[in-house]
Amino acid sequence: MTPSDADYARAVELLRAGELVAFPTETVYGLGADAANPAAVAKIFAAKGRPADHPLIVHLAGHDAVDHWAEQVPDVAWELMETFWPGPLTLILKKQAWVPSTVTGGQDTVGLRVPGHPVALELLRRFAIAAGEHAGIAAPSANRFGRISPTKAAHVREELGDRISLILDGGPCTVGIESTIVDCSRGEPVVLRPGHIAPTHLEAVLGRCPAIVTASGAPRVSGSLAAHYAPQTPMRLIAASRLLDFLNAQRHKGDCCGVIGHSQPPQAGMPHLWRMLPADPVGYAHDLYAALRDMDHAGVSLIAVEALPEAPAWAAVADRLRRAVAGSGQP
Ligand code: TXA
Ligand code: MG
Repeated sequence: MTPSDADYARAVELLRAGELVAFPTETVYGLGADAANPAAVAKIFAAKGRPADHPLIVHLAGHDAVDHWAEQVPDVAWELMETFWPGPLTLILKKQAWVPSTVTGGQDTVGLRVPGHPVALELLRRFAIAAGEHAGIAAPSANRFGRISPTKAAHVREELGDRISLILDGGPCTVGIESTIVDCSRGEPVVLRPGHIAPTHLEAVLGRCPAIVTASGAPRVSGSLAAHYAPQTPMRLIAASRLLDFLNAQRHKGDCCGVIGHSQPPQAGMPHLWRMLPADPVGYAHDLYAALRDMDHAGVSLIAVEALPEAPAWAAVADRLRRAVAGSGQP
């Protein structure tokens, strides 16, 4: 799935005109606007229904643009960029004074990322040719605020199709959950949002395993709100050992559940809609959001998710599941 030359040209033209363009990244689809144009960025917040104090990530074509957006970039941040960019890692850095506060939610820091998706990189490269070599695209995930992030172009159409000018289709996202966010703006780097790049990967560069500091309560990271990434259908996490009893009880009540499993295989004779996800965290992350979306459409009364292993490798998907449970069941 590759956009045509004309698609890219139209996308750049729209961005230059202050309009919104959705595009694929390796993590999830983003809803992009010219990050240097506050009026364009304001349209992102309007389209998503997102509170204005939630900062956005600025996507760049390469490292060369970093100094244009950030100041006092510590050596350790450069090392992380060298190792993980292009890729699913966002760095929080002190912002340059000129960076619009609409982008940063009024904070003195900015989130930067060079995405590892060929369509995102081609769009960023062409945009930088047209708008200036350091130009960036501000983009949150292309879903309505609090809902499940889109991992396919069709999901974006479903969420925001009536509110945006163009969706570049780059096929399904390979990672499937949002980027790891590392705050390098105040001393020792800490992880604000776990993701595909795990603390153990970061340890190889940092020399020590960074702390994961989520759920601060303040909206510095909207993905850290207790309720986020949520389906409209109520959702519960059930321990594997209790899953069958739970589903039997639901069956006796006449309830049809959606079941998302990874180790417990489907049971014959159960009326439930069963979906098995891969039993490894990378495969699970890849399929999770599409599975939640499918369940939401299937009209089940409850989504029962087999609880995940406690191992650190599962931390990022476990984080998304907890928040999805907390936010689920809202019309
Ligand atoms: O994978 C991703 O990160 C995707 C793709 C599109 O790049 N984007 C994404 O954006 O997930 P969004 O807006 O849904 O989540 C970005 C997170 C938010 O929770 C936001 O609060 C945080 O990044 N963030 C951005 N700038 C920040 C800053 N200056 N300080 C702290 N957190 C920041
Ligand atoms: Mg989001």
